[in-house]
Amino acid sequence: MTKYGSFPGARPRRLRTTPAMRRMVAETRLHPADLILPAFVREGISDPVEIGAMPGVYQHTRDSLKKAAVEAMEAGVAGIMLFGVPEESKKDAVGTAGTDPDGILQVALRDVRAEVGDDLIVMSDLCLDETTDHGHCGVLDAEGRVDNDATLERYAEMAQVQADAGAHVVGPSGMMDGQIGVIRDALDQVGHEDVSILAYSVKYSSAFFGPFREAVGSSLKGDRKTYQQDPANSRESLRELALDLEEGADMVMVKPAGPYLDILAKVADAVDVPVAAYQISGEYSMIEAAAARGWIDRDTAIMESLTGIRRAGANMILTYWATEVARKL
Ligand code: PBG
Repeated sequence: MTKYGSFPGARPRRLRTTPAMRRMVAETRLHPADLILPAFVREGISDPVEIGAMPGVYQHTRDSLKKAAVEAMEAGVAGIMLFGVPEESKKDAVGTAGTDPDGILQVALRDVRAEVGDDLIVMSDLCLDETTDHGHCGVLDAEGRVDNDATLERYAEMAQVQADAGAHVVGPSGMMDGQIGVIRDALDQVGHEDVSILAYSVKYSSAFFGPFREAVGSSLKGDRKTYQQDPANSRESLRELALDLEEGADMVMVKPAGPYLDILAKVADAVDVPVAAYQISGEYSMIEAAAARGWIDRDTAIMESLTGIRRAGANMILTYWATEVARKL
């Protein structure tokens, strides 16, 4: 009798014979509602400025941002994550522009909310690096080190101002200890119980953030190694996660995505909240750059990179290709 548990009875290739067969047995699918578009809005420009290291991605004007948000919404994208780029002269040591109700991020949040209402989830990056003149994610102490607890006070205020401006979700990305609890308390104190927190729980100090520095006109010299995680470590991700959930995170994020799929898989197994992954600037730029040289097939590489992130366990993916990909799905 033929043995069906082994060759020649068993032939895994049978299920790969045609596109229709492969489609039927696929375990992982992408859907527009899995995707979140990160977007940059820059103060004081009259036309969108393309980011050199991220071809196809722009620092938006207020108007072009509104347009991008509507396009994302119409394509079925789930949400938009906003980053504000203030005028250079408005940066200072404590990131005042981040808590000014007329700061560029707050203005953009109001603009976008007025445009999309509740039909696109509007999220805001909650971090000081875009607004500080030293470019760090927190305020500095007398010795020039990032002062964790003083930074928390700034984050509390930022959360309130962003929620007032219309954020459905705030995304604390600064990796300060205790940030989620402080932000939850601050939101609740002023009646923003309905505003959710997407915690950047697991965030590695990564070279792949490189192009983002240009995207937000970052003033950073040096690195973020005293607050972002060491790429060599896996266990501390679970500790970061546990602390954030304890402090009230509604959703958690792993970032970067591609080089950390092992971590993403672990996180997805460990939690009972939605899990997001951020395909960051460098992941975007690498594929665009290789494709521009004809070294890889752009569209296939984009889909494969996103499918891999989804397969590893992400419910939601932040990607600069969100609108483009959503239109294709
Ligand atoms: C911090 C923040 C960063 C990114 C998102 N939020 C920069 C950093 O931590 O250095 C990076 C996103 C990307 O690279 O696409 N505000």
